[in-house]
Amino acid sequence: MAGTADAVAAAKRAAGYQAAEIVEDGMVIGLGTGSTVFYAIESLSGRIREGLSIAGVPTSYQTAMRAREYGIPLTTLDDNPVLDLAIDGADQVDPRFRMIKGRGAALTREKCVASAAFRFVVVVDEAKMVKKLGGIVPVETLPFATKTAIAQLRGLGCRPFIREGVKKDGPVITDNGNFIVDCHFEEIADAAGLEAEMAVIPGVIESGLFTRFTGNTTIIVGNEKKCSVLTSPDVVP
Ligand code: 5RP
Repeated sequence: MAGTADAVAAAKRAAGYQAAEIVEDGMVIGLGTGSTVFYAIESLSGRIREGLSIAGVPTSYQTAMRAREYGIPLTTLDDNPVLDLAIDGADQVDPRFRMIKGRGAALTREKCVASAAFRFVVVVDEAKMVKKLGGIVPVETLPFATKTAIAQLRGLGCRPFIREGVKKDGPVITDNGNFIVDCHFEEIADAAGLEAEMAVIPGVIESGLFTRFTGNTTIIVGNEKKCSVLTSPDVVP
């Protein structure tokens, strides 16, 4: 069964459900985007029906719609600029908890919400754990300056492509009204340095490199049988 769609779904479910157990009554939490976070939402929905009182800040329209459907009260960073914790998925996680995110094009709000949280809980299936980050780094760009940003991103050693929609002609438009440029790297030698270099390119809104969430971070790695919980040394249980 390992590697099958059912096994991956079971691994994601295990990780999402375990993350939901960390949530305590009265917390205001960040709700990431994607299929693994969906399982945390599903589990939290059950706990809310049993009396848990929480509010969530969604990182995308998809998550806001799902959370409403599952009875999770929503709030905003305007009303709650500091969050107790944030639960989110990732596309790759390395042994030092550096990550690539953004397959779902929600990376900018995800980074804002993660940075607002005291504790970052990342839920992944075991295939996402890598020795070294590499491959595609999604970058959100301002449409006005995307071509200029692309030229400068190429200078960082990648092959950049504007992400095209599925069931929509032309570029993907993010929830913030921007484009996504998928930057294909043969190798990422210095992920933190690359994140910093991308951040100063005019027209780049945010990159999917998350290299600064290595403190107060918990990675819950699911497989179809169980979860492993990896914690940074400074996590307050
Ligand atoms: C969306 C993301 C997702 O969290 C990431 O792609 C993981 O998604 P999934 O849990 O569906 O594998 O970064 O922008």
